[in-house]
Amino acid sequence: MKAFAVIAFALVISVAQGTVYSRCGFAQTLYYDYGVTDMNTLANWVCLVQYESSFNDQAVGAINYNGTQDFGLFQINNKYWCQGAVSSSDSCGIACTSLLGNLSASWSCAQLVYQQQGFSAWYGWLNNCNGTAPSVADCF
Ligand SMILES: *[C@@H]1O[C@H](CO)[C@@H](O)[C@H](O)[C@H]1NC(C)=O
Ligand SMILES: *[C@@H]1O[C@H](CO)[C@@H](O)[C@H](O)[C@H]1NC(C)=O
Ligand SMILES: *[C@@H]1O[C@H](CO)[C@@H](O)[C@H](O)[C@H]1NC(C)=O
Repeated sequence: MKAFAVIAFALVISVAQGTVYSRCGFAQTLYYDYGVTDMNTLANWVCLVQYESSFNDQAVGAINYNGTQDFGLFQINNKYWCQGAVSSSDSCGIACTSLLGNLSASWSCAQLVYQQQGFSAWYGWLNNCNGTAPSVADCF
């Protein structure tokens, strides 16, 4: 019983804290679960997420100078993409807080951003990954 209680407690903590992926864990998840099998594309997504959220699926950015805020692994902005405190369009059709801890929803929204603006939509990518994203071949 005691062991069970400890396990149950640990589970609650891990849910409350969400997931911080390892670099290779995130690369493998995108590769195997989301079909990102082009290694150059994969390297760019991994680099982007590293600099945007440090692979933390609960990451909520500080409020930006313009009053907007960024949510989740891909730091999706609440002005145009998700529904949050800022009155705005909601192109992904989802509450910003629903992106937290939900890779599937976050990935779908990030794909929409990417289709419209490419990797350049993310400062984390522009400032750290454009042409310099490290290979993730070591993860496979
Ligand atoms: C607000 O600032 C953030 C961070 O600098 C930026 O990504 C976003 O595009 C800005 N949004 C607007 C509507 O100016
Ligand atoms: C993740 O988000 C999707 C889309 O909104 C939703 O259908 C799904 O139930 C969510 N998953 C979890 C674990 O919350
Ligand atoms: C990315 O880097 C290349 C090479 O340095 C540069 O020509 C290009 O303008 C950069 N892209 C963006 C969107 O800044």
